[in-house]
Amino acid sequence: MKTLQTKHPLAIRWFHWVNFPVLALMVWSGLKIYRAYDVYRIGFGSWTLFRFDKEFLSHLGITQGLAVGMAWHFLFGWIFAINGALYVGYLTVSGAWRQILPNRSSLKEAWQVVLHDLRIRKEPLPKAKFNGAQKIAYTGVVLLGFIALASGLAIYKPVQLAFLLFVFGGYQGARFVHFWVCMLFVLFFVVHIVQVARAGWNNFRSMITGREIVIEEQPNV
Ligand code: HEM
Repeated sequence: MKTLQTKHPLAIRWFHWVNFPVLALMVWSGLKIYRAYDVYRIGFGSWTLFRFDKEFLSHLGITQGLAVGMAWHFLFGWIFAINGALYVGYLTVSGAWRQILPNRSSLKEAWQVVLHDLRIRKEPLPKAKFNGAQKIAYTGVVLLGFIALASGLAIYKPVQLAFLLFVFGGYQGARFVHFWVCMLFVLFFVVHIVQVARAGWNNFRSMITGREIVIEEQPNV
């Protein structure tokens, strides 16, 4: 029998869908700022596998424009911060944090999810709102948001927030963390989209309408 069951509260759906375009704008404007001083690469010693330089950014459509990038980044940074704080506040007050915070079995369950997704493990996954892999990923992305904000503030006001700069090991340290956190956001985004596509329409729609169709097995009489 098919039934409609409530899955995602309205507040969470709002925070989620506001966050998506805001974060996209933050990545775009952040890369515009980074383009003015493009120092990072993936490599070891003098050997370089990949360089995040102007040429690569131009291929992504990130054109020159430091002042434009800064203006958008500083405006949407506040929206990102307020939306994130409201989301964490809501999770705390409503008790919904229990659904996304990993517990002792999350790591084992995340491994089972990997084996299941690779079609090595045939047994169905335990029924819960979020599996272990999701719990780790969603809590991780909230932590990323917090680190992005703290390192961003340290670069934004290095004199007034000198204690923050100290935590990140100075200006270059804070800038390094800020850039790589952004890359981790992009990585999360790619994996998240693949998983959402794999989970299907019913799951995606539940993040818009709040409800999903659940097929319940009829008891044998
Ligand atoms: C900026 C990038 C994004 C971030 C940081 C993000 C983060 C999250 C988080 C933290 C949750 C759990 C929410 C909760 O219940 O508290 C979630 C759920 C979800 N997200 Fe995203 N999201 C992003 C973009 C997207 C996009 C573009 C889509 C759709 C194409 C999407 C579809 C979904 C769906 C369907 C769920 C519910 C998963 C389920 O019930 O199993 N997300 N996302």
